[in-house]
Amino acid sequence: MCLSLNAFNNSGNDLDQENHAKSQTMTSSKIPFQGRRIEQQVMGQATRDGDGVKLTRVLTQAHQRRLDPFLMLDNFGSDDPNDYGGGFPDHPHRGFETVTYMIAGRMRHKDSAGHEGLLQNGGVQWMTAGRGVVHSEMPEQEEGVMEGFQLWLNLPSYQKMCTPAYLDIQSDSIPEYQFNGSIKVRVISGESNGVSGAVLRPPELFATNPLYLDIHFENDACFEQTLNPLHNAFLFVYRGHVSVVSDSNKTSVGLHRMAILQNEGNGVAIEGSRGAKVLLIAGQPLNEPIAQHGPFVMNTREELIQAVDDFRSGLFNS
Ligand code: FE2
Repeated sequence: MCLSLNAFNNSGNDLDQENHAKSQTMTSSKIPFQGRRIEQQVMGQATRDGDGVKLTRVLTQAHQRRLDPFLMLDNFGSDDPNDYGGGFPDHPHRGFETVTYMIAGRMRHKDSAGHEGLLQNGGVQWMTAGRGVVHSEMPEQEEGVMEGFQLWLNLPSYQKMCTPAYLDIQSDSIPEYQFNGSIKVRVISGESNGVSGAVLRPPELFATNPLYLDIHFENDACFEQTLNPLHNAFLFVYRGHVSVVSDSNKTSVGLHRMAILQNEGNGVAIEGSRGAKVLLIAGQPLNEPIAQHGPFVMNTREELIQAVDDFRSGLFNS
């Protein structure tokens, strides 16, 4: 079982020492760690979006209710520019957030309000579409490859019409720490073993309270993360393969598989071999109706009709 392997290395830097202490506090608390099991494994669907960009849709509409507040996860990447040359030209969004994470290459983005930026390898763009944006997202190769993810995160009804916002987070601004001396953890959002992510908003302002980790197994090792039992959670393996370990069960998850985790349990234990890389994502469900029409995600059909009307009237550009 993973817990028995959970001895942190003390590498000497302040962050690791602090994590070590916090982790010991965590594991010695009265509530025993109970790793969640896998409920279902899902193979992504190959598709094209934007101007013919080839991608794998990992989290599809079929899983929106089960994985509330997450609406979609795309994994795009290729070493052939013909697979994504057209990029994602001007298109609208309303009612949710998009989180774009580049792990190779770049993404140039521009919107109707004049925002422009270049998302570099290892960086994240967190866009809150709110009441509406029109933007373009154009992938660019770096040393012949381009690869990344886009996650769609729902907004609660009271924030769907908020003012649009962008947060561009360069790679060196994403907190990282070593777990067990063998695993590098990049904390994009939420908190992991005492390390706060690049995006950590107060729960009262961030109803979905998302955890977003990129976990790199540098040697054969086991990673543990506490999870709020009420939060829906899943992982996606994008290099190698891993196993999800619970008290009585160990299930392997292959490359390019999404594993939806059961909600019983206060954490997850992931065993990986050297070179494996995994995204671990969890969040507070909104438990609200989901009405989606392409890039608009609202609560009712009437709100969708309004969104289309507003877009056609040019209101998204103001
Ligand atoms: Fe977009």
